[in-house]
Amino acid sequence: MFLGADTTIYPWEAAVEQKHLNVERTVNQGSFYTPPHLVDMVYDLINSHVNRIEDYIIVDTSCGYGSMLRGARTVGSDIDCVALRQAALNNPHIDLFHFNGLSHVKRDNYHIRNSDNIIIVGNPPYNDKTSLIKHTIKQHNYVIDDGLKTRDLGLSFLLSYNTLRADYICVLHPLSYLIKKTNFHALKAFTDHYILKDSIIISSNEFPQLSKKTHFPIIIAFYERCTSGMDYRFIEQYTFHTIDKKTWQLKHFDTVDNYILKYPNAKKVPLEDTVTFFWTLRDINALKRNKTFVDKESSTTVRVRPEQFAYYCYVDIFKEYIHHIPYYFGNCNICIENETFNAIKHIFIQKACAKYRFLAHCAQKPAAEYAGLLDAYFQALMGEHYVY
Ligand SMILES: C[S@@+](CC[C@H](N)C(=O)[O-])C[C@H]1O[C@@H](n2cnc3c(N)ncnc32)[C@H](O)[C@@H]1O
Repeated sequence: MFLGADTTIYPWEAAVEQKHLNVERTVNQGSFYTPPHLVDMVYDLINSHVNRIEDYIIVDTSCGYGSMLRGARTVGSDIDCVALRQAALNNPHIDLFHFNGLSHVKRDNYHIRNSDNIIIVGNPPYNDKTSLIKHTIKQHNYVIDDGLKTRDLGLSFLLSYNTLRADYICVLHPLSYLIKKTNFHALKAFTDHYILKDSIIISSNEFPQLSKKTHFPIIIAFYERCTSGMDYRFIEQYTFHTIDKKTWQLKHFDTVDNYILKYPNAKKVPLEDTVTFFWTLRDINALKRNKTFVDKESSTTVRVRPEQFAYYCYVDIFKEYIHHIPYYFGNCNICIENETFNAIKHIFIQKACAKYRFLAHCAQKPAAEYAGLLDAYFQALMGEHYVY
């Protein structure tokens, strides 16, 4: 049981929404608690795959007020002892511990035996740069075990669930952990031992405390421990389901990074082969807030070769159509239907050049009546996912 020196009586009871932290501490600790309807979805997933849930200890190693813990035997821990006090009020049957969930990780800490079956639930804190949370004010100075250190707290928590050898895991985390290759590879110790059995994608807009401007896809993921694990190809072929009943697979979308360079390339491309400069390209959400063509070179620009110029025009115009792309593709690379694009690329060039005076030297003669063609292109690209 946790021990806290603070004996303040907090006036709320059975609180679900986090109430005790100011905005800065909420962001620093990632204390965006899970609304009850999403907790219900976690248990729907568990119940549809686990036969006798009563045979398992349900564990949340970053439990906040404990609202994700349901079941006969539950164990919760958190670094926030005020939250734990509320968790004890909400449900006196939870075994609570006051721990940093990323340090000295072992079952013993939670009085869990090696022979116990456990299901880990939760919504661990994350500070993934692509999820647009205000990561600049996040500072973490607590110790993280060597094997768990990553660029993102949430990735570290997933690795810690492997250290605890959970039989099943059902947690919320940014979709970018699975679909961005660098994140996926950082999870190797986890992906070697777990397979994504089922999931549902929701928007971060489901969290009332998160800014509506910054919505990004979150996956409620149900993982099963297994010997084969999963590789990135598995993710490419996986059928994702969204809360709004859409389904999609990464492998069905070609992306511009197959044709152009995304990152600063001054070492590879000489200035005399450069027609103009383009802002570093990341995912669709980053394109929403970033510039495209720029007339001056900087440490964040890409040198554009003449033969790739059309593709950069494509990205520039893609940005105009970005409100037609649904939130669940927010962390994907910029998609393209390459053959169709090549047939009409002069329209993209013409439209982009008309926007920037410094691209006048790249302009082609005006294409007649292009607006309808571009609309048709993006509608066909997105198919049933096009947002009207
Ligand atoms: C998104 S909240 C989730 C709370 C609860 N599981 C829920 O879903 O409502 C993340 C929680 O992680 C806790 N936390 C952050 N860093 C932690 C760490 N290193 N160890 C344990 N808990 C941590 C925060 O205090 C916060 O309560």
